[in-house]
Amino acid sequence: DAVERGEYRHYMQKEIFEQPRAVADTLEARIGASGVLPNIFGVGGDELLAKVKGVHIVACGTSYHAGMVAKYWIEDYARLPVNVEVASEYRYRETVVPPDTLFVAISQSGETADTLAAMRESRRRGYLGTLAICNVPESSVTREADLKLMTRAGPEIGVASTKAFTTQLAALALFTLHVAKQQGLDAARYRDLTEQLLHLPRCLDEALKLEPQVIELAERFVHRHHALFLGRGAHYPVALEGSLKLKEISYIHAEAYPAGELKHGPLALVDEDMPVIAVAPNGPLLDKLKSNLQEVRARGGELIVFADAKAHIDGNATRGAVLRIDAGGDFISPAVLTIPLQLLAYHVAVLRGTDVDQPRNLAKSVTVE
Ligand code: G6P
Repeated sequence: DAVERGEYRHYMQKEIFEQPRAVADTLEARIGASGVLPNIFGVGGDELLAKVKGVHIVACGTSYHAGMVAKYWIEDYARLPVNVEVASEYRYRETVVPPDTLFVAISQSGETADTLAAMRESRRRGYLGTLAICNVPESSVTREADLKLMTRAGPEIGVASTKAFTTQLAALALFTLHVAKQQGLDAARYRDLTEQLLHLPRCLDEALKLEPQVIELAERFVHRHHALFLGRGAHYPVALEGSLKLKEISYIHAEAYPAGELKHGPLALVDEDMPVIAVAPNGPLLDKLKSNLQEVRARGGELIVFADAKAHIDGNATRGAVLRIDAGGDFISPAVLTIPLQLLAYHVAVLRGTDVDQPRNLAKSVTVE
């Protein structure tokens, strides 16, 4: 056990630090300087994907959050309509499946009961085909899908998923680029997105160097009972993932909201006892996010902002802290800004003395309904 964990105290910490390697492995031989390579989805994949007119993504837990990020990407860059749904909902209702819709299952284990059942149910609903984004080649989800794109995270032991998530994002980014090109994305933009994705492992590596600063921030959370995470656009699912990590392993009640929804409810909870964690990428929504943060500040809330180094956020104006990270560009920034949130959850849990790798009541793979 200790040998496998090496220099790390927990599997979760080891797996957080494995992310640059795992993401590089997932991209390896699938993308080059000129873009996504042919035939990365298996036999007949490129022919089948050439017909896609829409995408339905189904998953659970952290894998569902990866799917939510992909919805923003695919709709933005490929202009294809995307639905994302948790598998336990999807399987028990009658979805509308327009012609030439692709069914995508995302699962680390490939054995999650609801995801597998949803995929089997999808056969009856008349999809163009099924694509599995999965980490285990011999799993049920992988075996039963028409097309597959394996994440190459290696075994993930910590119950709270980390490297599975970022490798899923890498795989979904490859899928996005593939369909975006086919749907006629502008060549210069395609080149830019390709370059960003190629830089992702290096950006993840840089983000991990912020661990000492995140440890300092974590100390502020030790005696907290609640936390609120905010993000906009593709960073809203990143906020959801950050809040899931915190609640799973530190048992602090955490919620995530799209920052624009603050006024519609959660603002009522904000006072000096409610830390607010915001994910702030650079981009057109930054000013809107800043005004949301102003609302928090005005109510005495403590703000922790994980901001892209290029985003101008005034650290002095927060009653908390701003941590600056090179987010590597608009496309990959959801993956990069996930890192400090994982580190925060991890170190808060360590300080609170919980069983980080085996949180109470949770299982690594939920193979029964
Ligand atoms: C469990 C795990 C989560 C995981 C989810 C989906 O809840 O604790 O970490 O995200 O299942 O698992 P899957 O293997 O389908 O990605």
